[in-house]
Amino acid sequence: MDPSQHQSSRLRPGISPAENMHYHSHDHAGGHGHSHGLGGHPHSHEQHSHDHGGHHSHQSGGNHSEDQEQDRLIREQMGLAADDDVHEEVLHFHKIIKAFSQYKNSAMYANHRRRTDFFKIPAYQQKLMPRYLGRLEEIDRAIEANYEIIKVICEDQQIFVNEDRPMMLNGDDRVKNAAALRVREQDMEKVQGTIKQFVRDWSVQGLDEREAIYHPIVQELHRRFEHVPVEKRHQLHVLVPGSGLGRLAFDIANAGYSSQGNEFSYYMLLASNFILNKTSTTEQYTIYPFVHTFSNIVKPEDVMASVKIPDVNPNALPRGVDFSMVAGDFVEVYNEPENHGTSTLWEKSMKAKLIEEEQEKFDAIVTCFFIDTAKNIADYLQIIHKVLKKGGIWINAGPLLWHFENTPGEISIELSLEEVLELARELGFRIETQGMAKSTYMVNPHGMLKYVYECSTWTATKL
Ligand SMILES: C[S@@+](CC[C@H](N)C(=O)[O-])C[C@H]1O[C@@H](n2cnc3c(N)ncnc32)[C@H](O)[C@@H]1O
Repeated sequence: MDPSQHQSSRLRPGISPAENMHYHSHDHAGGHGHSHGLGGHPHSHEQHSHDHGGHHSHQSGGNHSEDQEQDRLIREQMGLAADDDVHEEVLHFHKIIKAFSQYKNSAMYANHRRRTDFFKIPAYQQKLMPRYLGRLEEIDRAIEANYEIIKVICEDQQIFVNEDRPMMLNGDDRVKNAAALRVREQDMEKVQGTIKQFVRDWSVQGLDEREAIYHPIVQELHRRFEHVPVEKRHQLHVLVPGSGLGRLAFDIANAGYSSQGNEFSYYMLLASNFILNKTSTTEQYTIYPFVHTFSNIVKPEDVMASVKIPDVNPNALPRGVDFSMVAGDFVEVYNEPENHGTSTLWEKSMKAKLIEEEQEKFDAIVTCFFIDTAKNIADYLQIIHKVLKKGGIWINAGPLLWHFENTPGEISIELSLEEVLELARELGFRIETQGMAKSTYMVNPHGMLKYVYECSTWTATKL
C-alpha cells in the first residue's frame, strides 16, 4: 500500500457519498442486497508516501520535481486551467490502468535482467548455482499467472464512471495524452504492492496479521455494543476510512454491523472491487505475491510461494447488513461543505445537504493503520468527531508513520502519540481504553525481514 504523491485535488462538487455509494452497486448473488458499489470520487492522485509494508520505513514516496513535471505535462497537453481537476483525475485513473497493464512487461524485464546478469558471470561459477536459472523460468510463469488476475481487476473500469465524470478516454485523447500517462517505477511498485496486499487481507497466510489487528477491533465493537442483540447489529453504522482492500470493513459487516469503507487509491479500489464483487467462491484465484524481489529469501521455492484468494466468500454476509465502499479522499468526502471547492450555489446547497446527511451518522469509526496518512491530523480527528453520533465510539489501531513527513511541497503535522491523544481530548473525545498491539504489515511470511509495529490502540467516545 503505497500511496504516492502530491498535490491535493478536489473532488468534484455535488457528488454525494451518501447518494452515490450504491449508484454503481453490485448486488450479491445471495440476494441480500449487500452492495459493494462505489460512490464518491477517488482522489486524483494516489497519495504519497511512506509505505507501511516497505522495508525503508521513511522512504520518500516519489521525486517531487518529477511529479510536478508530469503534472505540468498533463496540464499542457490537456490545455487545463490551474484549478481543473476533472481531467487530471481521469488521466490519473488511466495511468493506473496503464501501470496495471504494464505489470507483465515490467516484471518480466526485471526477471530477464537476473538472467542476463547470470550469463555475465564465469561459466564455472554458473555451474556452482544449478538451481538459479530454473527458478527464473518459474518466476516468468508466475508473473504470467499474476497478470491474468490483473486483467480481471482492470476489466471493471465502469464502476468509476459517474454521470458528471466520464472516465473513459476516447482514442484521440489517449494518443494525445500518451506522455502524460507515462508509468514510472514507483507506479509499478504500487501494482506489486497491491498484489501483496491481497495476502494481508484475503488469504489464510494473512491470518496472523489480521488476528493481531482486525480481530481485536471487531471484538472491541462487540464489547462496546454488547447491549445490542446480534440480529439488530445492522442498525449500527460503522465507518472504516482508509479501508485498503476492504477486509476489515468486510469483517465488520460479516459480524452483523452495517459497514462503510472509504478509500481513495484507485489501486486499492480496483483490487477491492475485484475481490468483493468478482469472486464467488473461496480460493478462486492463485497469486504469486513474492516473485518481485529475491532479497531476504530463505529457500529458493519461497519466492514462488503461491497464495489462494479469497480465504472467505465475500458474498456471504448476514441479512440486513448494509456494506458499501465510498471512493474518495476522507477529508473531502466527509468534510465541511465550504471546504469542497464547490462553485455554484446549487452545488453548494447540494453538497451541504449531502454533508449534513453524513454528520453524526456513524455509531463507530474504526481507523486501522490510517490516522498517520493525514497531512493535518487535526482535520482527520475533527472529521471523525463530526461524523460520529454523540456517544459514538472511535476505535484506533496503528502506528504513527507520518506519511507526508519530509515531503516537499506538502504540509505535514507530525505529532507524538501523546500529542495525538491530547488533541483528541481537546476536540471532544474521552479516551477510554488504551493499549498496544504488536503487528507486522504486509510481511512476507517466508522472509528474513519482518518489521514489527508496536501499534497504539485505543477506544474513545465522542462526548
Ligand atoms: C496503510 S494503509 C492501511 C489499509 C488498511 N486499513 C489496512 O490496515 O490494511 C492506508 C490506506 O489509507 C488510504 N488513504 C490514505 N489517505 C487517505 C485519504 N485521505 N482518504 C481515503 N483513503 C486514504 C490509502 O490509500 C491506504 O489504502
